[in-house]
Amino acid sequence: KDSYLVTLLPGDGIGPEITEATKKVLAVICEKSGFEIELKEALIGGAAIDAKNDPFPQESLDQCLASDSVLLACIGGYKWDKNPRELRPETGLLKMRKEMGLFANLRPAKVLSQLIDASTLKREVVEGVDVMVVRELTGDVYFGTPKGIDVIDGQRVGYNNMIYSESEIDRIARVAGDVASKRKGQLCSVDKANVLDVSQLWRDVVTDVITKDFPEVELSHMYVDNAAMQLIRWPKQFDTIVCGNIFGDILSDEASMLVGSLGMLPSASIGESGPGVFEPCHGSAPDIAGEDKANPLAMILSAAMMLKYDLDRPEEAAIIERAVEAVLDEKIRTPDIKQEGDGCKLVGCTEMGQAVADIVAKAEI
Ligand code: NAD
Ligand code: IPM
Ligand code: MN
Repeated sequence: KDSYLVTLLPGDGIGPEITEATKKVLAVICEKSGFEIELKEALIGGAAIDAKNDPFPQESLDQCLASDSVLLACIGGYKWDKNPRELRPETGLLKMRKEMGLFANLRPAKVLSQLIDASTLKREVVEGVDVMVVRELTGDVYFGTPKGIDVIDGQRVGYNNMIYSESEIDRIARVAGDVASKRKGQLCSVDKANVLDVSQLWRDVVTDVITKDFPEVELSHMYVDNAAMQLIRWPKQFDTIVCGNIFGDILSDEASMLVGSLGMLPSASIGESGPGVFEPCHGSAPDIAGEDKANPLAMILSAAMMLKYDLDRPEEAAIIERAVEAVLDEKIRTPDIKQEGDGCKLVGCTEMGQAVADIVAKAEI
């Protein structure tokens, strides 16, 4: 196939800025490799609320489902934080994941040698770290019912339900087993089984699936509080981590600090079939939005994951990944990965995107 339809969701905050940077890189790789990606924009998040009074309108969903793949920037912002739940940007993101059946979220945290000093941790701790967090994405306390804020005995009580069915755990365990078997074969399942019944079921089902169907994978279990600590203490002990939705949300942001910045972390959200959504792990960074300060590399690397997973273009994905490293070799840095006195050149989002595109343009195909 040499022509693809990709839905592009620029979203909110720094979203449109990192989207522009990523578009430049995609345009160059397409031209070089002689294939076409039609990028068709759609609305999600705050932008969709403002235009359509709906954080993920049906037409956006229909367009995503009719595409070969979906590339998302990020959503959210102060402007919509006081809206009722159904009119919040985050609700649109969750609806997209749920309705598209994207139950598996792969979040690779691979430390690049060029960025070792961008981490707040010691060089010997982060050097060579390569962790893959396999996060369940359509269950857990995010989607459980009952949920709400009610008045009980004269005071407000807020509640959500942390809930997983056997089949939901089974399918994410299979994805994790598959991912781990293609890596170093070490899978650590993270839960809170010492306290939570839902986690006990998680542990039982993961153990069944991995021991029966992935005998080559070495499975271990860890409580989430310990895992949060071990990730900082000695991250090299981890290869693949599998966990539920909320633990994965938290641990993957934590893992970004091993890499140096949340602005470096891409992700792939995939289901049983149909298009995936490729999205940076970070949010809309309202504190720097509109200032051309955002790091577009997480989205550019997400586009590379899209080329590899959804468009079956692994070579083009590798070219983009190598171009990102080459830009870092050239000592080009956005503020989030710049250290004082590191002798690197400080650039904005636009210039960073252009620098990657320029190197892709020179790559040998
Ligand atoms: P955030 O990820 O937006 O930002 C956290 C910190 O990291 C900020 O200091 C920000 O400036 C920095 N940062 C994030 N991405 C960066 C990048 N590419 N380059 C440089 N710096 C970057 O998290 P938050 O501040 O807790 O949330 C802001 C909004 O984003 C909220 O509305 C939240 O709900 C939403 N959010 C959306 C997503 C998503 O779209 N997938 C993910 C997380 C948060
Ligand atoms: C992420 C975000 C989302 C999540 C929010 C914005 C709903 O933090 O993609 O990591 O919690 O999944
Ligand atoms: Mn998150």
